[in-house]
Amino acid sequence: MKLLIKNGTLIDPVLETMQKTDILVEDDLISAIGEGLEDAEARVIDAEGCAISAGLIDMHVHFRDPGFTYKEDIISGSHAAAHGGFTTVTCMPNTKPTIDTPEWVKYVYDRAEEGSGIHVLPIAAVSKGQLGEELTDAEALKKAGAAALSDDGRQVMNANLMRDALICASRQNMVILSHCEDENMVKNYAVNEGRISRQLGLPGRPAIAEELMVMRDAMLAEETQSAVHICHISTGKAVDIVRKFKKKGVKITCETCPQYFTLTHSEVLTQGAAARVNPPLRNTRDMQAVLEGVKDGTIDCIVTDHAPHSEEEKARGLEKAPSGMVGLETSLAITLTQLYHTGEMTLPQILAKMTVNPAHILGLEKGRVAVGCDADLTIFDPNEEWVVDASKFASKGRNTPFNGKTLKGRVKYTIAAGKVVYEDGGEE
Ligand code: DOR
Ligand code: ZN
Ligand code: ZN
Repeated sequence: MKLLIKNGTLIDPVLETMQKTDILVEDDLISAIGEGLEDAEARVIDAEGCAISAGLIDMHVHFRDPGFTYKEDIISGSHAAAHGGFTTVTCMPNTKPTIDTPEWVKYVYDRAEEGSGIHVLPIAAVSKGQLGEELTDAEALKKAGAAALSDDGRQVMNANLMRDALICASRQNMVILSHCEDENMVKNYAVNEGRISRQLGLPGRPAIAEELMVMRDAMLAEETQSAVHICHISTGKAVDIVRKFKKKGVKITCETCPQYFTLTHSEVLTQGAAARVNPPLRNTRDMQAVLEGVKDGTIDCIVTDHAPHSEEEKARGLEKAPSGMVGLETSLAITLTQLYHTGEMTLPQILAKMTVNPAHILGLEKGRVAVGCDADLTIFDPNEEWVVDASKFASKGRNTPFNGKTLKGRVKYTIAAGKVVYEDGGEE
């Protein structure tokens, strides 16, 4: 199978260049890059007016399989990812049962075979059953192919267990992805603690619950000389902590999600449970600080934390509904609308956070476009406008506060391992 992509603009996030060029794909590899390429046998894709990037990587999604497949399964999730331009995702282990053994790691790989054709890599739990009591077997999980370790959805509350986990993970060359919120401070509360929680008369999740845990994990990473990656950072002070520890040379990285540099807690007033997420949407100052962290490089990655829930669950109302929002099919467009079309960042700077940076953190040989590399590519029109219609999502989840919003930037083709796995307006 050959694909010839003509007339697109190739974005290189490392060299920070944008260059008009053709790309030839043979089987699952990139075989040539240059101007005026021809190949009589190849399927030609016209990428005029489009940007070409290494396939997008989302290192934080929830596919709910096994156990909650009414919300999403690995197959529907992998199609949602392809629609959103993602060729690699790593999925969180807060399933039922928990992905905490080599057998369950293998289950994810096996199920993904039947999916859209993108690469779905499992993240395994830090603690058995994510109960925060006993560590999983990092060595066996690594051998089975786990891409990282995380108890996401929950905080590893026991500092001693987290310290041991960091030591064990680093021996396996694995990173721990840490959901930072002190569980005793946030309980099952629905919104950020602040003006909006007071207005609604609800108990809130305070920013300090996140910041304390970011500080703890940063200090543990420093002391154990291990790598920690902070999930979905959402407060200004948490960004400051990561910035300071990075300056000291500590192996700390972090991610945020489009909702944290786009929306604030006031969103729950109009959107209710659709705007409920953990950590919660914060105040304007935090939102701006997160944006600053994305711009200055403190925040390494933009991920979705794609967290599908059923319509019935989200209809229970703000206080009773589960937390989370879907993101795979809107992430690139929200990011382009908010960061590129406003002039805040360039395409290479943005794409670094969705390709090379997550690849680097996970130790994956992905995220670059060069001859001989895996043919994982995303082709998008940065200027096409469209209106989000969640009812059309490939995901089973429709829970997004961006429904009905006009966004600028649209995925046209997603190519994984040399195969077109998504085509805008076309058949897969
Ligand atoms: O809002 C969230 N939803 N935050 C998490 O950490 C977990 C996720 C989920 O699994 O639904
Ligand atoms: Zn989380
Ligand atoms: Zn998550």
